[in-house]
Amino acid sequence: MMKTFTWVAVLAATMLSAQPAMVHFNSNSKIFRLDGGNVTYAFGVNARGELQQTYWGGRLGEADPLPPATPMREWASFDSSYSNTPQEYAGWGAGLFNEPALKLTFADGNRDLVLHYESHTETANGLDVILKDLDRKIFVTLHYSIDAQTGVLSRSATIENRESAPVTVEQAAAAGWSLPAGRYTLNYLTGRWAGEWTLTQETMHHGARVLESRRGTTGQQANPWFALQAGDASEDHGEVWFGALGWSGSWRITVEQDQLDAVRVTGGFNPFDFGYVLHPGEKLETPTFYGGYSAHGLGGASRILHSFEVHNILPRTQATASAPAPRPRPVIYNSWEATEFRVSEAGQIELAEKAAALGIDRFVMDDGWFGQRKTDHLGLGDWYVNQDKFPRGLKPLIDRVHALGMDFGLWVEPEMVNPDSDLYRKHPDWVLNFPGRPRTEGRNQLVLNLARQDVHEYVLGFLDKLLNENDIAFLKWDYNRNWSEPGWDQLPPAEQKKVYVEFIRNLYSILSELRRRHPKVEIESCSGGGGRVDLGILRYADEVWPSDNTDPFDRLTIQDGFTYAYTPQVMMAWVTDSPHWANKRATSLSYRMLSSMQGSLGIGANISKWTPDEAALAKRLIAAYHEVQPTIVQGELYRLISPRNGSEFSATQTVKQDKSQSVVFAFIHSTQEGRGFPLLKLKGLDPQGQYALTPIEGKTAPSTPATASGAWWMNHGLEMDQDFRGDFQAAAFRLDRK
Ligand code: GLA
Repeated sequence: MMKTFTWVAVLAATMLSAQPAMVHFNSNSKIFRLDGGNVTYAFGVNARGELQQTYWGGRLGEADPLPPATPMREWASFDSSYSNTPQEYAGWGAGLFNEPALKLTFADGNRDLVLHYESHTETANGLDVILKDLDRKIFVTLHYSIDAQTGVLSRSATIENRESAPVTVEQAAAAGWSLPAGRYTLNYLTGRWAGEWTLTQETMHHGARVLESRRGTTGQQANPWFALQAGDASEDHGEVWFGALGWSGSWRITVEQDQLDAVRVTGGFNPFDFGYVLHPGEKLETPTFYGGYSAHGLGGASRILHSFEVHNILPRTQATASAPAPRPRPVIYNSWEATEFRVSEAGQIELAEKAAALGIDRFVMDDGWFGQRKTDHLGLGDWYVNQDKFPRGLKPLIDRVHALGMDFGLWVEPEMVNPDSDLYRKHPDWVLNFPGRPRTEGRNQLVLNLARQDVHEYVLGFLDKLLNENDIAFLKWDYNRNWSEPGWDQLPPAEQKKVYVEFIRNLYSILSELRRRHPKVEIESCSGGGGRVDLGILRYADEVWPSDNTDPFDRLTIQDGFTYAYTPQVMMAWVTDSPHWANKRATSLSYRMLSSMQGSLGIGANISKWTPDEAALAKRLIAAYHEVQPTIVQGELYRLISPRNGSEFSATQTVKQDKSQSVVFAFIHSTQEGRGFPLLKLKGLDPQGQYALTPIEGKTAPSTPATASGAWWMNHGLEMDQDFRGDFQAAAFRLDRK
């Protein structure tokens, strides 16, 4: 039955958004319309009963007409209208040649699925639309909501089997996004260990570009984010549609341009090796696929996404539960690069004393503190404190860290086990494996099958105990390999592939339960660097480790790529030793500090070896960073000069939301032919406001005014001192509105 509702403000207008979010259904035209931020999204029920997208772009006037949902014509007998029509959630059946959102096999062998509109209901912040197969009792509820401030849509689906026999779901997307025929450039992020976040840009051509992970986890090699630029759109101008999938297991996003030049993006569970049996009455929930629109190029797209992540995705601790945004990350010290596995009470206390003197907020002890963990060959799984290294337990170290005015964090890798461990000797059946087959190791470790209830209980149990027995403010949660032999032999053979879903659901449930029981604890998602960064884990993790590569020059590109999809609020960036292990490159401490200050700053160097001058420089810059950190990590980011494509320079600028402050970073890779640093025309300032410039590090040209209007900084630009040249140089400035 059709249910009518008129304009409904589903979210109160926030201070920052001019208009509330609205959801509307026109019962005459059968068009649904969602409005939020500067975005309108519309879809309708077409004459065949399919749900068809009709508009996604800039926000329209309330009374503006919307095109009806008219099925696309058949171009030839080779191209069915069912394929050509931009369906919101297409079942595989009836001649669908492009990527389906849902593909099933029924118990009787039928594999035809055609989903038609059934009904809809309002929800607290959006809309549920129920689809049903032509004659089989397969129901799909499409969940929609739109964010009032950013216009980012959240979409997911619940698939329900009300037949009397089981069905197997072979492919299930969260959503399909459609763009009309046109010229587009596809942006996506790829990488490898120590080389994550490479932005790749390519012209869309006919056919499909598949972005995916088959690794059981998000992966370093591709990240579940995309952006499509229309025609000549650039960093600052033009239309961009983008999306990010909230799933930390095997995922797939298929971006295809069909034979009529239209583009469709379909994303959700990776259908490779997928097969989820739904018994009568059972449901499968897909992950959420978030989608947004920017009229201001890729820069506008990332600013929208950053704001959405900060205000809508990131978890809150007890202290920030009612705050408008999570707090900026404490400046951390992490022991890994200084000591690796050689941790001890005395050694960690020595580092903690040095760290406190620099103005560090949080001291984190990394790997090596537990079980018989001397190398990466042993100990994972045995989460008791190593008696040789900490004969008095962790308390003396934690107490000392607290006395020094810092809080304490600890490294864990809960989902893994070394075969050389008490846990594995006791429970060899707890790992992902196919009985009787070899068990492939990665970093000498195997993956515990978190989908199992006993493993779920063990992992939650030891973490809960650790947090109950020790005053721990922060967990660095690591995950240092991908899956192999993903068997789950507790289940009947036909059901074992459920591991791809249940493992991740249990991971989320452990994280959520730990946060509930320990509401002050914060968590970092690390996976040998940036192997598990997505909008699924970011509902439970306050921050992420973008890469094990801490070379400050490499980091400029890594951090640049990262910010296309994720906010600097979660982008941890440590200053480590020089020359750097990755490239043997020597850089100054000032350069290393400024590279890391672009994100959430940390120190990971062996600070015991720092000279008094180095310690004084770091202390001064940490203090300067503390003053402007909210602007850097939660402000509006403008990538002024990209470090990509062999650029000699790079520069970024962030502007506080109320435009009262801005921070600029400028980096030189290697000056060539005596070229000076380009004039930096700033962005996003209040043109009428008067801004005073203060150097954090480095100098501007002598003619630079101490104070000038926002219009001056944006139109004339910031000129660097002519001595700002050489190799691996960095400068930073703040502007404060008077
Ligand atoms: C991974 C992490 C590192 C460090 C080591 C410890 O590689 O990314 O930061 O914690 O594990 O073994």
